[in-house]
Amino acid sequence: MSFSSIEHEKKCSKVLYESKVCIPAISSSIKSFTLRKNNDPYHPIDIAQQMLQGVKEFCCENITAIKIPKQIDDWFDEFVENAYDAFAKNKLGESDKLILKTSVKKKNQQYIISIKDNAGGFINKKAGELFTIDGVKPEGKQKDIYIGGEGIGLRNASKFLKKENIDLFFKNRKKVKGAAVKLVFNIS
Ligand SMILES: Nc1ncnc2c1ncn2[C@@H]1O[C@H](COP(=O)(O)OP(=O)(O)OP(=O)(O)O)[C@@H](O)[C@H]1O
Ligand SMILES: [Mg+2]
Repeated sequence: MSFSSIEHEKKCSKVLYESKVCIPAISSSIKSFTLRKNNDPYHPIDIAQQMLQGVKEFCCENITAIKIPKQIDDWFDEFVENAYDAFAKNKLGESDKLILKTSVKKKNQQYIISIKDNAGGFINKKAGELFTIDGVKPEGKQKDIYIGGEGIGLRNASKFLKKENIDLFFKNRKKVKGAAVKLVFNIS
């Protein structure tokens, strides 16, 4: 799949499924947003599972052309954790909630699952510019206050998904200050 074809996605694609989840920020402490207790209803792993569950159910009932790999759970966790970290780093105190949106779109011979956030976006990237893992530079997050910090999560996700014939793209959103992660399933 080429950049130019995905860039035309908005114009020619059809939205099949959408969902949204809001995570309130109740304090300005980074750790209290990122490092949550297991029983916290807004724990990122639970939120990721909830988001993915909706997508899986929709795809299972309505789209037979694509197979969602079982291990996608881990990568959804990673995308959501990155959004929590970015929100805590860029938007705590500025915005009252992290908003995560999931969608499934169809475009020609592709199905595209997107995860969008309002967490500030990737650093040093222009809004609307599409990039792959090669354009992602880990920013070196402090491991004691953020969920991530190794700088390998997206690279591992990209490698794994590629083996499953799923392309991974990233971009900063145009209307909202935030990032979008796109999983592109190619139908053979
Ligand atoms: N949703 C997002 N919003 C803004 N920046 C992001 C987002 N997702 C990833 N990034 C940026 O991409 C970088 C790489 O992400 P990646 O998940 O690979 O590493 P990490 O989160 O820093 O560490 P870990 O390997 O422990 O997950 C992050 O350091 C961050 O700068
Ligand atoms: Mg990460």
